Amino acid sequence: MKRIGLVTSGGDAPGMNAAIRAVTRVAHSESLEVMGFERGWDGLINNRFRMLTPRNVGGILHVGGTILRTSRSPEFREPEGVRKAAENLALHNVDGFVVVGGDGSMRGALELSKVSDALIVGIPATIDNDVYGTEETVGFDSAVNTAVEEIDKIRDTANSHERIFIVEVMGRKRGFLALTIGLTVGAEVILVPEVEYSLESIIRTLETNSAKGKKSGIIVAAEGIGDTHKLMREIEEEAGVEVRLSVTGYAQRGGNPTARSRLLANLFGNKAVHLLKNNQGNMMACLENGKASSIDLKRVCSGEKQLDLRLMKLAQTLAT
Ligand code: F6P
Repeated sequence: MKRIGLVTSGGDAPGMNAAIRAVTRVAHSESLEVMGFERGWDGLINNRFRMLTPRNVGGILHVGGTILRTSRSPEFREPEGVRKAAENLALHNVDGFVVVGGDGSMRGALELSKVSDALIVGIPATIDNDVYGTEETVGFDSAVNTAVEEIDKIRDTANSHERIFIVEVMGRKRGFLALTIGLTVGAEVILVPEVEYSLESIIRTLETNSAKGKKSGIIVAAEGIGDTHKLMREIEEEAGVEVRLSVTGYAQRGGNPTARSRLLANLFGNKAVHLLKNNQGNMMACLENGKASSIDLKRVCSGEKQLDLRLMKLAQTLAT
């Protein structure tokens, strides 16, 4: 193993830069060169890269986004794109390849491993925290904190106006972000795609709270539950209360990574390089029982991470 490649792919997540820095510096300490491919899989398909050195990855640890840029590559979804990517790895004598991204990127990594001689290793990095096989992904904690900071501010205005707020958070089809955010802001209602909800039960909760003297409230809704505008109108009509909607949106993807996201990026970067150094491919760095470990990529791509539904119950108990 002499040269490794590195790509950040899919939606960016705070801490991706920390992962780039960690992979580069650990690799160099093991006498491995690092080739950074730009703009996600597109860079690998179109040969856009730059050599990464311990010096040129300086000053990025605390910066959000990814210096390598990223994309969602339609070309890589086709077998022809994957084949081109594998050819380019061979062309550049890349022996090991690190893919930093979410579940779609891990599936891409697995596809690439089927046609490439290079050893492929994944680093889970997505704000959604929906990658099977790891307790946490790089970027999740940062996105949670961004939303919590915003919702704490919304709570002030909700109290002043005695209003109900729906705050829509990201998470794609899963409720990991919504559940952690909801629990940590004391949301009166948390809506996640994994749990069916009814308008009646939301209204019942709001009315019970109102009877207890709680005139304002926060409903944290995962984007995956569907149309939150419609939900806002329905609650207004049925409950006769003022409801506002605030969509947290892409701010959750940016900003300085928290210490937690940086720590995970460092641990996973170190693990990924050592896996490659020991000639272990088709793996993903992961967090298991709070420690850096690794898991087979095939298992990652065939499993579905479960939401801890006990936390929904706890959130309800705490928001009385
Ligand atoms: O996967 C990260 C994420 O931010 C999701 O939470 C969201 O649904 C999606 O990406 C948005 O994707 P795009 O960047 O393609 O708009």
